[in-house]
Amino acid sequence: MKPFIIRSVSVILIASMLFSIPAHPEAANAAADPMSGTDKPLIIAHRGASLFAPENTMAAFHKAVEMDADMIELDVRLTKDGIPVVIHDPKVNRTTSGRGKVSGMTYKQLRELDAGKHFRQAFAAERIPSLAEVLDTFSPGTPLLIELKDPKQSPGIEEIIAGMLKKRRLDNSAVSGIVVQSFDRSSMQKLKVLLPRLSIGLLVTRAGKLKKSELKKISQYADYINPSRKGLSTWTIRLIQSSGMQVYVWDIRSERQAVAVIKAGADGIMTKDPEFLRSLKTRLAD
Ligand code: G3P
Ligand code: CA
Repeated sequence: MKPFIIRSVSVILIASMLFSIPAHPEAANAAADPMSGTDKPLIIAHRGASLFAPENTMAAFHKAVEMDADMIELDVRLTKDGIPVVIHDPKVNRTTSGRGKVSGMTYKQLRELDAGKHFRQAFAAERIPSLAEVLDTFSPGTPLLIELKDPKQSPGIEEIIAGMLKKRRLDNSAVSGIVVQSFDRSSMQKLKVLLPRLSIGLLVTRAGKLKKSELKKISQYADYINPSRKGLSTWTIRLIQSSGMQVYVWDIRSERQAVAVIKAGADGIMTKDPEFLRSLKTRLAD
């Protein structure tokens, strides 16, 4: 009897906590949702459709479009001569034919490297894309989720990105479908000041640790909290959403993980395999 009472009280407490969160709060900053009208959760191709083509290459991005992803996620760093290029690691070693730091090489030197062979010989023609090339190919038609990697190691990257988006009239997310994200809070605050109509995401590893008061502060400049799936609960997702922000979760690697995150109410899911997520969504909707 006693355990049942304890369980019942716990259920009532949890339910009252969930229902005490307002469903549609005021957004705190100026950017409109670039993805309103798209069926949630969005299917976000993580580093492109990177299960099928080398990550962060034009081939992976074209594959994501072909697989009907709603959005493409990609990683950006600066070269030695200040050109934003699309690559995940600080060094080129893992994903190219070269060795050394991205920040220690010029754009010309980086373009000489092969960025596809490590994945499969058939992709040997792939190069490290510049961000300009990606924007000019995919924007504004395909929504992009652009991650600034280690912005403190690339002083001035926010001004460079802001300049590129402004020049192309892509700085209004409602029109361009572009969201910029980073783990670096001060970088994202800075970018929001430079481009008030750009949607901003803050990446976090442990979203469950964020208190409501902290979320309120973050919502002054961010439109998204994008957490790792590890330890993420329905409660945390709802708490973030009740603070006026959306939740894009990374990165989902199995059907079990995907079902859990969909049921928890995430707004977007990053995956290497957009095709699998599309068919899972269809199956769950039937
Ligand atoms: O974009 C979110 C997620 O990609 C962050 O992790 O290491 O894959 O860039 P990483
Ligand atoms: Ca990333």
